[in-house]
Amino acid sequence: MRMVDIIIKKKEGLKLSKEEIEFFIKGITDGSIPDYQASSLLMAICLKGMDDEETLNLTLAMVASGESIDLSQIPKIKVDKHSTGGVGDKTTMILGPMVAALGVPVAKMSGRGLGHTGGTIDKLESIPGFNTELSQEEFIKIVQDIGLAVAGQTGNLVPADKKLYALRDVTGTVDSIPLISASIMSKKLAAGSDAIVLDVKVGSGAFMKTTEDARKLAKTMVKIGTGAKRKTVAVITDMDRPLGKAIGNALEVKEAIEVLSGHGPDDITEVCITLAAKMLELAGMGDFKKCTGLAERTIQDGSALKKFEQMIKAQNGNEKVVDNPDLLPSAKYTFEYKATSKGYITAIISDKLGVASMLLGAGRATKESTIDPGAGITLLKKPGDMVEKGEPVMILHANSQSLFEASVNELDKAVEISGEKPSETPLIIDIIQ
Ligand code: URA
Repeated sequence: MRMVDIIIKKKEGLKLSKEEIEFFIKGITDGSIPDYQASSLLMAICLKGMDDEETLNLTLAMVASGESIDLSQIPKIKVDKHSTGGVGDKTTMILGPMVAALGVPVAKMSGRGLGHTGGTIDKLESIPGFNTELSQEEFIKIVQDIGLAVAGQTGNLVPADKKLYALRDVTGTVDSIPLISASIMSKKLAAGSDAIVLDVKVGSGAFMKTTEDARKLAKTMVKIGTGAKRKTVAVITDMDRPLGKAIGNALEVKEAIEVLSGHGPDDITEVCITLAAKMLELAGMGDFKKCTGLAERTIQDGSALKKFEQMIKAQNGNEKVVDNPDLLPSAKYTFEYKATSKGYITAIISDKLGVASMLLGAGRATKESTIDPGAGITLLKKPGDMVEKGEPVMILHANSQSLFEASVNELDKAVEISGEKPSETPLIIDIIQ
């Protein structure tokens, strides 16, 4: 088999065989296929697409490129969740404890942030002492003991994705539905859970900018999961507005604690209850309505908050942050960002808000940048709220006052104010199963 023939075949819009896809993934993993040929095939896939069978074969070949985690020592149905990412997305820290509080084990591997804001691992590491670098044995033991662990991706999980993602990032081939689906689902399948709930975000702060594209991505990933014999559902949620009021690592941990205590913002609470209910449904805890009630109860009776505290302790973090969030790191300086005119806030564009937060130190500008755990933004107003000219819209948190100016410039592009009240749009757009 020759790589050039595979590239030409896809360039002509033809379907690749399982063997051809396996040849490509094996070659990219062992280094026998040069980057220029791999990039060329990625662009051909981007332009000509892949059908469901090719996408499943690509995903399975990527899983086979490395190790998979064996969670069979943990009894019961293990449910995983993946969010396609968004600004201020702290759902894992909330719904993991909710689901585990009901006895459904959650063994979650999470990532660090790519751009914008930090990922779940960065957020959890803002808790003093919290250890996300668990060996597979430690990870499984904590799930066996308390039903919940969140760790950074360990070992040699899907090495093909690491190489492909790095190439896609610099060759303009990130936004391809088959490539995104295979990248996400290969990591989910290798992480070993029996069932998967996907939170597919749509809007300015997400990979998918339109509902139509989000539906396509969701359907493709659900078909891959089902094809690989994992129960899989996708919930499409709105990312045209930031979720909750906090953006930034320790700020988001604080907000997660507020949600788990029953007094968090409504939007993030609603999304978490829906996602948790779907996870519980896949774990066989009843129908969606019953599972929604179960999920709500874990907040009301304090069991989800208790579970979060247990997880922090089990992963060597200072669990006292749950009762005293002031123990979390905070920034030395704050700055009020004020409305430039009177009216309704019609939009706070999520990706620009993410960049503004990153500029304060909450995210990485490059892979090598370090994260400032206390930095970020607290929203005082959300889209739909009325503001007076000069009224504070958000508070910026940073450890150097010199960082505020660039962030404010970005926020001037993010906040839109108009005389007309914007119409309310649903947060949960669709559920694909
Ligand atoms: N997240 C991933 O893990 N891979 C993609 O391709 C896009 C988002």
